[in-house]
Amino acid sequence: MAKSGKVVIHTDPADFEGMRKAGKLAAETLDMITPYVEAGITTEELDKICDDYINAHGGISACKGYHGYPKSVCISLNHVICHGIPSDRKLVNGDILNIDVTTIVDGWYGDTSRMYTVGKLSVKAKKLVDITFETMWRGIEQVKPGNTLGDIGHAMQSFAEKNRCSVVKDFCGHGLGKIFHDAPNVLNYGKPHEGLVLEPGMFFTIEPMVNTGGDELKILADGWTTVTRDMGLSAQFEHSLAVTETGYEIFTNSPKGLDHPPYDLSSFK
Ligand code: MF3
Ligand code: CO
Ligand code: CO
Repeated sequence: MAKSGKVVIHTDPADFEGMRKAGKLAAETLDMITPYVEAGITTEELDKICDDYINAHGGISACKGYHGYPKSVCISLNHVICHGIPSDRKLVNGDILNIDVTTIVDGWYGDTSRMYTVGKLSVKAKKLVDITFETMWRGIEQVKPGNTLGDIGHAMQSFAEKNRCSVVKDFCGHGLGKIFHDAPNVLNYGKPHEGLVLEPGMFFTIEPMVNTGGDELKILADGWTTVTRDMGLSAQFEHSLAVTETGYEIFTNSPKGLDHPPYDLSSFK
């Protein structure tokens, strides 16, 4: 299915059910991988564990083969903004990384990402992760009928910038459903009351990328890995959600409550 340009309004409860299942598997994958994120493991090993888990639980990775993407998940470390390709790079003390999982279950897409941390972080890195999590939530809190995409973007941009960070302008959230990247574009910046007016039944992601330095980026020769031009740190969180009559429904909540690092591994007992 190609991107239609029109924003789909989902009215069938079965569409919500489909998204709940796909979103849940994506979130469970992020929960499952949590105790593996430790110094010494390679990002390729993390990718394989995620891929096996998705396949064993009734889904497939939406990323594998998507426009030629070679792996199952994206793992973006430190100054990598997004679309980091899992490799033989071993995690080391002080790393921050985003793992972004998109599943397809019965044709529906579930797309979510979180930050993970390794060992003792710099004060700057820890602050960035906290600011980025809150940036995503400032955006989500704007989701209700009658508000606009500009309200979401403005809430995220103004929070990040107040905290002396920048938001990435060249990537954004997106509509999704039976299509991975559909209308609308959900920008990480904007002006209050501007842009598309939200209606119940819209499905989209909110996925701010926040940098400690400037917002300029470059894409490496592999065609995917997107890094900050100034080599500053970058972080991201992502949820898939629906606009409802009263606000929003998040499809990708963590079943184990592992929303924000440092993750409490006692939930794996
Ligand atoms: N999951 C990413 C997003 O949030 C897209 C990854 S596409 C890939 O939209 F091909 F790089 F995997
Ligand atoms: Co997304
Ligand atoms: Co994603």
